[in-house]
Amino acid sequence: MPVPADQAHPLTADVAIVGGGIIGLATAWRLTRAGLSAIVIDPSPGSGASLSAAGMIAPVSEMSYQHGRLFALMRDSAAEYPTFVAALEADAQTDVGYRETETLVCAADPADRQMLADLQHYQQAAGGEVEALTSRAARRLEPALSPSLSGAFHSAGDHQVNPRRITAALQTVLPAIIRRTAVELIETESSSGTAVTGVRLDDGRTITAPVTVLATGMTPTRAPLPDDVPLPLRPIRGEVLRTRLPSGLPPLLEHTIRGIVTGRPIYLVPRADGEIVIGATSREDNREGPSVEGVSQLLRDAQRLVPGIGECELTEVTARARPGTHDDAPYLGTVGTAGRGPISGLIVANGFYRHGILLTPLASRLAAQLVLRELDPPTVPESTDHPATADTDHHHLQTMNPRRIAHPAAENQPQGGRP
Ligand code: GLY
Repeated sequence: MPVPADQAHPLTADVAIVGGGIIGLATAWRLTRAGLSAIVIDPSPGSGASLSAAGMIAPVSEMSYQHGRLFALMRDSAAEYPTFVAALEADAQTDVGYRETETLVCAADPADRQMLADLQHYQQAAGGEVEALTSRAARRLEPALSPSLSGAFHSAGDHQVNPRRITAALQTVLPAIIRRTAVELIETESSSGTAVTGVRLDDGRTITAPVTVLATGMTPTRAPLPDDVPLPLRPIRGEVLRTRLPSGLPPLLEHTIRGIVTGRPIYLVPRADGEIVIGATSREDNREGPSVEGVSQLLRDAQRLVPGIGECELTEVTARARPGTHDDAPYLGTVGTAGRGPISGLIVANGFYRHGILLTPLASRLAAQLVLRELDPPTVPESTDHPATADTDHHHLQTMNPRRIAHPAAENQPQGGRP
């Protein structure tokens, strides 16, 4: 197909970011603040998993067994949220709905209570703040809870943000978002190895950049990695509902309510404007849209914990795919194979599974740092938005090293800089 004359000129930037979900947009914003030019490529920014997400900033109640290293990431990213939000709100001149609401985790029956009590020991051993409550004490804090609960747990440090407001705010402060699909990475081979030097778009244009970041989540349109680079992702789909009390009624909930109902997890996240987000199922099947069973299960389980939710209007049903990895930790860093070593000019930021919103401050800061190291400019300072120590960052980058898939020892190798 001929390329129209006005599209024939290649675009150039310091960084091309493929994928305009919360991770790609936030990384571009960090880099723009550091003085670089970043182009984000996405046909519909903010419309993937970031659109569905409820936005719990809940490192403790999102913790599960065998997730010690992931918990450290979640805890440290949650601690960065207030600084991240303050900087973004100042740049975008808007409120992104960060609320230090507390979380109550409720058990519907005695077996659910035992499951939560076992998890509480694990969470506490890892340093998580969580306290057991009787159901009566939980109802004193949150009168809308059902009187038939078997017990509850209080996580005072688990908060929330509105992911849609974050992606909207980021789009207002980013100068270059191209609403096209990146169909191909441009690779060059030399004696020092493979380098990615940009991407080709579906309209025939190319974007030339010394560094490309792949932050595509599970969106079906993506510039594929070379075949020999292993980076398996699987879609873990989930339904999320949005509800609202009829106008004039007082708020139903003050806390985020999470719970286990006959073994199934559920959460209800109340926004300041009266919306209550209910989520989320987890299924690994091929149905892209919402499933009838998933929606009815969420409605049933939500009413079991908070009977008054039945009074709300159901305003929206979404289903999106979380990008899942083999160990539930994201991929953030350079990729390559044993044969040809890391591919230069390419950073992957993907596989955030259930934790994309929570991990955004930390992951976008580290992704921006990796880009700066890849560019290696002597004059550009690294972001000083948050005083994390180099040792902690190094440890987090090891946890997320994408090369851990092919070479498990890679988890213990440093990341960043050209090979
Ligand atoms: N972060 C919660 C979920 O993915 O359902």
